[in-house]
Amino acid sequence: MSNIAPPLAGVIGFPIGHSKSPVLHGYWLRELGIQGYYVPLLMSQAEFVGGLRSLPKLGFKGVNVTLPHKIPALGLADTVTDRAALIGAANTLTFKSDGSISADNTDGYGFIQNLRQNAPDWNASNGPALVLGAGGAARAIVSALLSEGVTELRLANRTRGRADMLADQFGAKVEIIDWNRASDAMDGAMTIVNTTSLGMEGQPDLPVVLDAAPKNAVVTDIVYTPIKTPFLMAAQDRSLKTVDGLGMLLHQGVPGFENWFGACPEVTGGLRNAVLGL
Ligand code: ATR
Repeated sequence: MSNIAPPLAGVIGFPIGHSKSPVLHGYWLRELGIQGYYVPLLMSQAEFVGGLRSLPKLGFKGVNVTLPHKIPALGLADTVTDRAALIGAANTLTFKSDGSISADNTDGYGFIQNLRQNAPDWNASNGPALVLGAGGAARAIVSALLSEGVTELRLANRTRGRADMLADQFGAKVEIIDWNRASDAMDGAMTIVNTTSLGMEGQPDLPVVLDAAPKNAVVTDIVYTPIKTPFLMAAQDRSLKTVDGLGMLLHQGVPGFENWFGACPEVTGGLRNAVLGL
């Protein structure tokens, strides 16, 4: 009998039952024939540091972290990638063999890879971007779009102070737009992104119209419940290219899986169906 334990990974959150990450990583483990496990781990804020520190000894190679641990996770890591430092939060932790913890944030990467896969003509340098929202997801997306070379990024948020904070951090390429002028700011915007929770099941719709959007703009939404949000449907009605938010979730999982299990997984239609429960 082998005394080599299979590699383990998981996702830590509070709550955690809703997370799609176990299905996502479980699918890849099966597809790639890897003898490993990825499990949901419920930990409160009080339990997080102690719980996390115990995992490497149990055979865990690393974890994803979700609410409310994304900011604390960055603080307790020994090394932090540049993109996680810029975003100010981590979603992927890797336990190194020397006992150290490295932190990454793959949300912006997932956002960009989703656009690349589903809108192959998309390029950050195609023109201005319009980002709706200024929460945690917006930080990752603003950071990623600027890294990709967007030269003008328009940012509209209901609470202007949060948009101001992002603009202060990310510099002169970020232009603040009044929330109630967001529809006008569609003019000339080649990448249009909803990072707010509006349009999610049980939430009101986004109060914006796409009339001024260029006909070759790409419209994307981080909300994926429903898959086709009212915002994406409105874009489709105008024959604009749309990319739904599920792909961002699928792609953000790739770097962690690769770190922990040593194989590069693919984002395929089969994976999408599995995560959608189809
Ligand atoms: P996340 O980390 O998922 O981005 P968040 O930090 O709570 O979550 O941010 C949610 C985003 O949705 C914010 O931009 C928020 O706007 P405020 O900063 O004004 O709160 C936006 N949002 C949520 N509900 C909204 C609503 N009813 N109208 C407008 N924007 C809303």
